[in-house]
Amino acid sequence: MSSAFSHAELERALLRREAGEPLAHVLGRVEFCELSLEIGPGVFVPRPRTEALVEAAIAWLKPDSRVLDVACGCGALAAAIKRALPGAEVHASDIDESALEFARRNGARYGFAVHRSDWLRSVPGRFDLVIAYLPHVPHAEEDSLDQDYLKAEGPSTVLGGADGLDPLRSILPHLSQHGGLMTLLEVGQIETARQLAGRLQVLAGDEHDQIVLIQ
Ligand SMILES: C[S@@+](CC[C@H](N)C(=O)[O-])C[C@H]1O[C@@H](n2cnc3c(N)ncnc32)[C@H](O)[C@@H]1O
Repeated sequence: MSSAFSHAELERALLRREAGEPLAHVLGRVEFCELSLEIGPGVFVPRPRTEALVEAAIAWLKPDSRVLDVACGCGALAAAIKRALPGAEVHASDIDESALEFARRNGARYGFAVHRSDWLRSVPGRFDLVIAYLPHVPHAEEDSLDQDYLKAEGPSTVLGGADGLDPLRSILPHLSQHGGLMTLLEVGQIETARQLAGRLQVLAGDEHDQIVLIQ
């Protein structure tokens, strides 16, 4: 925290943190892939585990690809891709106005365009790759989540229906217009996702998360 904070501001920040607000929301900043991004209340805080998804996308993309970070939150994935591939045309979209406000600020700083869209319904044109860290937690797992984060970010940023795959179901019908979708799923979701999507390739992963490419 900057030393420019007054005593009163510092006290307010400590109270918000003690009340359970994520540090990123209190500070108004979050680090992701060594970038500093603006963020605020109601917006999903980018998780370190998603950095592996960004690395996989960067390895797959060409230097001048057209790429979309769908359900972008504050635009962390878009910012990291644009930083790694300055010649790429990078776009980001979300439906939530708070997320869009911060994505626009980060887009202006890091060089990506931001759109309001319900999943892929109104994104501009064809993308070589759609990258997404979707809400994908099954409803039954809601109680096991950090309740402070759930309250601060909002359930619609993390919960994905009975099996966590409803957002994927919404995206799949629009995917034929694009080069592919790269996303992160839980190990236990892979088989259902394969049945839904058909051509699903596991690119990398660990005992919890798998990075998949659907084409
Ligand atoms: C898990 S967060 C990921 C955000 C960002 N990709 C990140 O990793 O920081 C999921 C995002 O999906 C967005 N979302 C929820 N419903 C949506 C919808 N119908 N259309 C587009 N985005 C949606 C939420 O606003 C949230 O920003």
